[in-house]
Amino acid sequence: MVNIAILGFGVVGSGTAEVLTENKKLIEAKLGTSINIKYILDLREFPDSPFGHLVIHDFNTILQDEEVSIVAEMMGGAHPAYDFSKAALEAKKNVVTSNKEVVATFGVELLEIAKKNNVRYMFEASVGGGIPIIRPIQNDLASNSIKSVSGILNGTTNYILTKMASEGADFSDVLAQAQKKGYAEANPTADIEGLDTARKIVILAALSYGKLLNPSHIYVEGITKITGEDFSIASKFGYSIKLIGYSKSFGDKILAMVSPRLVRFDNPLHNINDVFNGILIDADMLGEVMFYGRGAGKLPTASSVVSDIIDIIDAKKYNSKALGWTSASDSDMADFEKYSCRRMFIFDGNKSDVVSVFEGHRTGEFKEFGNKVAFISDELSEFEAKSKASACSAKLVSMLRLL
Ligand code: HSE
Repeated sequence: MVNIAILGFGVVGSGTAEVLTENKKLIEAKLGTSINIKYILDLREFPDSPFGHLVIHDFNTILQDEEVSIVAEMMGGAHPAYDFSKAALEAKKNVVTSNKEVVATFGVELLEIAKKNNVRYMFEASVGGGIPIIRPIQNDLASNSIKSVSGILNGTTNYILTKMASEGADFSDVLAQAQKKGYAEANPTADIEGLDTARKIVILAALSYGKLLNPSHIYVEGITKITGEDFSIASKFGYSIKLIGYSKSFGDKILAMVSPRLVRFDNPLHNINDVFNGILIDADMLGEVMFYGRGAGKLPTASSVVSDIIDIIDAKKYNSKALGWTSASDSDMADFEKYSCRRMFIFDGNKSDVVSVFEGHRTGEFKEFGNKVAFISDELSEFEAKSKASACSAKLVSMLRLL
């Protein structure tokens, strides 16, 4: 019998108990062993829950119980989630988590401690919720060198952007609607400012390139400045706007960034709508492969947590190789100012100098919308884009990168 302790009985924690109970027979038949939830750690009591009798409040009970071999951490936040995970690994217990903040911040150290103690630290649920993405990159794409990863990694912002596109509404109105419906959290800052996506893209970049970048050192731009007008003008050029976590290798340098991007109608990410997530990977041998599904939610995320639990128990069958990352230093990072891509510019005012500054640097027609002029540029670096825009007397209203 395998004994499991669940840390945090919130949405994902209770979902994990539900998946393990609902699909108990199926999982045990596959593994040939029984699974038992021995403890649930939470500050609260849950007298009405069928799992209420398992609730304890002292983590040391779990730590000192040698029968517990797997700890499933779903507390959220950095502390004490990190501290408990570290202590569990040092006590030679496997740890699975949905906590992207802990993985993105302390992944290098926790993987190292896991390796030293011959146990596993696993986090399939930390990116893309229920979408299998960590294990496929680690195992199934192991024969490939990954050229780039582009992902819609945050359900809340994708819901907001989808509504803005379909209703022509502005950001703040749709955010208020989303909060009312319970899709966006009361404090949605980490989602709308791009930090949640930043944590997820650095995890995907570490899986792809072996180095964990610091999410606070990468370029991160959220969706708060996107307007209904950006959407309507982008659609005239054949694009939608999505919040994209993007990572690419340039030789031994890694670029990771988060920003709203224009996605053309023929790109597979164009049709990832509402709270869904999509991750498009360009691998050198395979070419493009896309992963799509529910990026958040109780049972989808719990399904990923339980897949890690199954992997640990059935290590012989799945035998994932032990992960080892190093911390990326500044010299591992590609220079963001040199990052080149096509862009949509919208200017307000004097059109003639916009035309002359960007003549020879655009790929389509200038389109006029009242006083405004919009066009798609050819590839320009961050530096070139900014200096050309500042050479125009017209006011730059919007500059959105194309994917
Ligand atoms: N706030 C996150 C989202 C939850 O909206 O995608 C899943 O990580």
